[in-house]
Amino acid sequence: MASSKQLTGVSRTLLIPLRARAQEHVRAFPLFRDTQAYHWFQSLSWDPKLEDWYDWRYQICISVRTKLLDDIANQHIATHPDSLVVELGAGLSSRYHRLGKGKTQWIELDLPEVIDIRLELDTPTDEHWFLAASVLDRAWMEKIPAIAPENVLFIAEGLFYYFEESEVKQLVQQLRSSFAGATLALDVGGIVFKQLNASKANQLGAPMKWFVEDEKDVAALGLSVKRVFPLLDCYLERWGLLPWMGWWWFVFWRSLLRNFCLILETELDPVQ
Ligand SMILES: C[S@@+](CC[C@H](N)C(=O)[O-])C[C@H]1O[C@@H](n2cnc3c(N)ncnc32)[C@H](O)[C@@H]1O
Repeated sequence: MASSKQLTGVSRTLLIPLRARAQEHVRAFPLFRDTQAYHWFQSLSWDPKLEDWYDWRYQICISVRTKLLDDIANQHIATHPDSLVVELGAGLSSRYHRLGKGKTQWIELDLPEVIDIRLELDTPTDEHWFLAASVLDRAWMEKIPAIAPENVLFIAEGLFYYFEESEVKQLVQQLRSSFAGATLALDVGGIVFKQLNASKANQLGAPMKWFVEDEKDVAALGLSVKRVFPLLDCYLERWGLLPWMGWWWFVFWRSLLRNFCLILETELDPVQ
């Protein structure tokens, strides 16, 4: 049986989105079904230290984030017949099983201790394989199949928060120099996100370091921002709040929390 005990620091945080997806799977009206996440979560032990961080609000936020990135991935696969999806810091993402199987090539990239756990739960195939590497060590880029960059979708879900700004800049620069024209879908957190999460993440030994004011900070990295989805503005029905919210509160809520968490679809600009 796979064990989550070998997970420490940032790697341990993968249990949070895995649990959120497993719980979404068994809801009456879920944003998505995810049999794989449900079974994988059952077979791993939950880390009680994460309990302080994880609650029902987190579960909804992660489910909405998952759904928005699923929408982007579905559209990319449908419009690029020879597509490749690369999940950076994939954790135990089961997106390939939800929407990629038989339709696209797919690579899961994460640190070696995470790939070891995935190998106990998941089986690599010709179209779905795993890369054990730090995303910050550009050697992994040599292992990506040589296909036209516009067919490649990189997904960085719940990842960039854990890097220094200088690391984010360097990684994006390296991606741009090797894959200009590819799509990068990612989530970024704003100041309110930082206030709610940074100290909890610190206590767990997984410090969050990179936050943004809005999507302009992302564009400044050399990324053309194609679409912006404020997380708290999407799939509102999942919160079940609308019936009792006055319009004034609704407007206040939206303007204050627009940049709480942004899901972005971007294109990697060429390096000049
Ligand atoms: C919050 S989890 C998100 C996992 C997954 N994307 C999801 O949404 O379920 C963060 C992930 O980033 C991975 N990670 C952190 N630093 C990394 C690095 N330098 N290279 C590759 N993966 C990294 C961790 O191991 C962990 O799996």
